[in-house]
Amino acid sequence: MTKKILVLAGDGIGPEIVDEAVKVLNVVNDKYNLGLEYTEDTIGGAAIDKYGVPLADSTLATAKESDAVLLGAVGGPKWDTLERSIRPEKGLLKIRSELGLFANLRPAILYPQLANASSLKAEFVAGLDILIVRELTGGIYFGEPRGIRTLENGERQGYNTLPYRESEIERIARVGFEMAQLRNKKLCSVDKANVMESSQLWREIVTNMAKEYPDVELSHMYVDNAAMQLVRLPKQFDVMVTDNMFGDILSDEASMLTGSIGMLPSASLDANGKGMYEPSHGSAPDIAGKNMANPLATILSAAMMLRYTFKHAESANLIEKAVGLTLDKNLRTADIMSMGCDKVSTSEMGNAVVAELKKL
Ligand code: NAD
Ligand code: IPM
Ligand code: MN
Repeated sequence: MTKKILVLAGDGIGPEIVDEAVKVLNVVNDKYNLGLEYTEDTIGGAAIDKYGVPLADSTLATAKESDAVLLGAVGGPKWDTLERSIRPEKGLLKIRSELGLFANLRPAILYPQLANASSLKAEFVAGLDILIVRELTGGIYFGEPRGIRTLENGERQGYNTLPYRESEIERIARVGFEMAQLRNKKLCSVDKANVMESSQLWREIVTNMAKEYPDVELSHMYVDNAAMQLVRLPKQFDVMVTDNMFGDILSDEASMLTGSIGMLPSASLDANGKGMYEPSHGSAPDIAGKNMANPLATILSAAMMLRYTFKHAESANLIEKAVGLTLDKNLRTADIMSMGCDKVSTSEMGNAVVAELKKL
């Protein structure tokens, strides 16, 4: 059976890193006869240039007909001054929302070869394996009312709203509990319930749901403390479940524990296993077009696609193993501290993973 993948490379380093992930997917496609079929289109600034909008209706329609989307990144200085409603980031938010991709899984896993590249001392991160479950289609990113208004005294005020419905909290909390059940059975729910009503409701619902998962040890933590604990003693965490904005911030923070933002993949899933797969990082305009970006987060996101949408754990495991074998060869892109290692380009890193994969 064919498996339809929509490839949206996007902006900045997007095309460079997506190319490497497709090379890697092609190897497992041939090896296991997976029937992967690609359609290419674009999103973000590249879509603004091509279609006049950051996500064309035709692109969205193709995404809805596809089994999975592989995405690079969106955004860049060229489009930063556009009106907010047509900025590149809106395209990304729209595709997440329209596809119902409410569950964003961001695994922060340390490859042992990168222990010395972590921003923490090796002993604090050895064996690190945290899964951040981020709510992705609600909260302050989408809340209304929002805008910039002029007050009576003529001063302008920017405002946003952070709403969460019970059903939105329930469905993401359930993903948190179920992921914890498959792992070390510890779930930490991160909120700001000491200040915000939406967090108060979040905490109440998560607490009630814990009764359905007696084997999972649930804890709650305020987000400021969680940010601190992540760099104090990160291995205390197994699964963290949190809202859209907190998850955005905490996952970037967690990425550095694993050596680089260029190592953090992600899966954004709907209720039925359909998903969009993209690195957690952005379009890195400072290094775009230089063949310098680390493609591993995107390659590992492709592995997540095989695992979560195509239910082919074997090929996903093989890709992850090939990444490890590549790091064993002391090859590093420039984002990763590389004493005693060879600095390689984006395409050299992708080719090295392909070479290791072919040997497996
Ligand atoms: P960024 O993640 O693009 O870059 C932050 C820093 O990390 C930069 O120094 C960059 O060079 C580095 N970096 C990121 N990915 C890397 C990789 N794979 N290899 C090596 N180095 C890497 O974040 P930013 O600079 O805050 O944002 C730049 C643009 O990207 C903005 O327009 C922003 O809105 C957008 N953005 C998009 C996404 C997405 O598409 N999912 C995510 C975050 C930011
Ligand atoms: C991410 C990005 C996006 C987000 C932006 C570009 C809209 O930072 O995927 O982490 O905040 O979700
Ligand atoms: Mn982010």
